[in-house]
Amino acid sequence: MAWIQAAEVSEFSGTDRKFCELSDDVQVALFKHEDGSYYAVEVWCSHQKVSLINGDLEDYELMCPLHGACFDIRSGKNLCLPAVKPIESYPVKVEDDKILVEI
Ligand code: FES
Repeated sequence: MAWIQAAEVSEFSGTDRKFCELSDDVQVALFKHEDGSYYAVEVWCSHQKVSLINGDLEDYELMCPLHGACFDIRSGKNLCLPAVKPIESYPVKVEDDKILVEI
C-alpha cells in the first residue's frame, strides 16, 4: 500500500471530480463532495467496465451512465442492479495542497 498524489486541492473549485490514473492498474474517479470531503473510487463500473467519471452524483450515489447501476462513493458498495459487485474504494487524505490516495 502506498499514498499516491492524485491531484492538488487548487485543481478543484467547489464540488468537482477528476479522473486520475494512479498506476497501470488503478484508475479512479476522485470527487470533492459538498460535505467538503474527497472520495476516490475505481472509475470502472463493475457491470461492464464503463467509465463512471461522468455519472450523475446525487448525494453519495454515483450512477453509471450506461445502465443506471448506482454505487456509494464512500464505500464503493453497489446499491442497485444491474451491478451485483461493488467497485473498489480508496482512502483519501489531504496534506497541504496535495490530495493523496492510498492504493
Ligand atoms: S455498464 Fe454500468 S450499469 Fe451496465
